[in-house]
Amino acid sequence: MKPENLRSKIFLDGGDARETKTYLDSLGFLDGQTTNPSLIAKNPEARKRIERGEKFSADELLGFYKDIVQEISVLIPHGSVSVEVYADRETTAEDMLAEGRKMYSWIPNAHIKLPTTAEGLKAAHQAIAENMRINMTLVFSQEQAAAVYAATRGATKGQVFLSPFVGRLDDRGENGMSLIKNILEMYKKGDGHVEVLTASVRSLDHFLYALALQSDIITTPAKILHEWHEAGMPLAGDEFNYDSKELKPLPYQELDLARDWTEFDIQHELTDVGVEKFAADWNALIQ
Ligand code: G3P
Repeated sequence: MKPENLRSKIFLDGGDARETKTYLDSLGFLDGQTTNPSLIAKNPEARKRIERGEKFSADELLGFYKDIVQEISVLIPHGSVSVEVYADRETTAEDMLAEGRKMYSWIPNAHIKLPTTAEGLKAAHQAIAENMRINMTLVFSQEQAAAVYAATRGATKGQVFLSPFVGRLDDRGENGMSLIKNILEMYKKGDGHVEVLTASVRSLDHFLYALALQSDIITTPAKILHEWHEAGMPLAGDEFNYDSKELKPLPYQELDLARDWTEFDIQHELTDVGVEKFAADWNALIQ
């Protein structure tokens, strides 16, 4: 059962509806799910197909993604399911919007994931004007978080998620959890229209510290949810001591959320690498 006093929403990060069902049964709740092209590529049915030497046509692959998302949506009808548009370095805001609109019609509880690049941010601005729910992904800097806030001003609470990827910052020696802390601190000065969704969670410690920081949402792979469940679903509060080991903390930046969204420097190497990787994993499934 969902622990009392759990303030963060807990999402599963995965691309397999059977896994969703398993964790829904064992935890007794899930508040939502996030998917992405790499997770769809790891879906057991997709793996089997590739092992048989059969790839998908582009249309078949989109249909496969749609089926997965629809199955998950039925399992978590009151939660949110994030569905990610295809993007590579050539993809324009208009391309992302066209695919995002289509994906948005797949299920009633979608958040459309857009990369936090210049084109992705343009698409986000327009998506809010069209009243879509969105999840800005591949966030690695406080400046990107400020830009998302500014580009989506006017959205209602829960309409915009922001996904900073903590594990990938840790991978290069930077303390990913310090970015979560800084963004939550910065957003305290705002109106609350963007919810922070801690992503790329790799350990139970990441998960517990995100709870202690009161991240609005935490998405986590099944393995970490399993560890949390085995540990008795503990909560973490102010007393939680996160051991960041040798990781370098990211300094807090004073940024003005009232600035024009086009003025922020949102470039980040890890965002570009992340876009390329999602595109490569997706394209590897196509004939
Ligand atoms: O939630 C985002 C996630 O799927 C990426 O995780 O472990 O590939 O950095 P990871």
